[in-house]
Amino acid sequence: MLARFAKILMVLVWASTSALIAQAEDAGRVAAPQYTLPENAKSCVADTAFMRRNHMNMLKHQRDETMHKGIRTKKYSLKNCINCHVTKDEAGKPIKVSNPKHFCAACHEYAAVKLDCFECHRSTPMETGKSAQIPDIPEHTGLLADNSSAVKQLGEYLKGVKQ
Ligand code: HEC
Ligand code: HEC
Ligand code: HEC
Repeated sequence: MLARFAKILMVLVWASTSALIAQAEDAGRVAAPQYTLPENAKSCVADTAFMRRNHMNMLKHQRDETMHKGIRTKKYSLKNCINCHVTKDEAGKPIKVSNPKHFCAACHEYAAVKLDCFECHRSTPMETGKSAQIPDIPEHTGLLADNSSAVKQLGEYLKGVKQ
């Protein structure tokens, strides 16, 4: 008799806590930013938790290094992020950062972070196989993907000028 009562009590407790958990999960789903992760890659350029916290510093640091010292590392390049973190629309076309489902936009809108990066940088991969790369404004500079050697040469040239 007592054992049976205990069992019923246990079921009731289990039911009410799991209902609570389900509620919490629902709330989480509504509140969390909505984005998809790359299908063709298992991992990011660094540990996911690290990326979540530090990607901004990585990119900003690299921007300074790139712009002022002429250092370019592919691994943490913004172009690399954009090429892998692609979200496609129903037509299979990569969506731009103006679409709230864009990987970089979803989280930033949620966190109310404003970026100016994409006024100059592309938010979608550069289409390959096109002879004339004339990105439409406002992404006019694109991520000058294929001119890294030209940038290096220019860097070398400028070094020469200083001496
Ligand atoms: C006014 C235009 C402009 C804005 C705004 C801008 N950039 Fe850039 N960025 C450039 C140019 C030009 C280059 C050098 C050419 C290139 O590599 O595309 C560059 C290069 C970079 C690079 C190195 C190349 C690469 O693909 O990684 C990174 C990283 C970068 N920018 C990050 C950022 C981030 C992050 C922001 C926003 C916080 C930003 N940029 C905003 C113009 C801009
Ligand atoms: C080769 C593909 C690839 C590249 C390049 C890449 N990522 Fe990732 N990224 C992933 C994958 C896959 C995950 C999810 C990993 C997981 O499930 O733990 C991820 C996770 C993340 C997360 C965490 C998302 C979350 O749900 O918490 C952030 C933020 C992120 N990436 C930003 C970046 C930035 C910024 C760059 C460029 C510096 C970049 N990624 C480059 C594939 C990539
Ligand atoms: C998991 C959520 C998440 C994702 C996904 C994400 N970001 Fe962020 N990002 C943040 C948060 C939160 C901040 C603000 C951090 C702060 O203010 O300390 C931020 C800030 C930044 C900043 C610095 C802004 C500034 O001016 O200080 C840059 C640059 C940036 N993110 C680039 C990117 C790029 C590029 C992508 C897509 C490849 C991306 N982020 C995807 C959450 C995310």
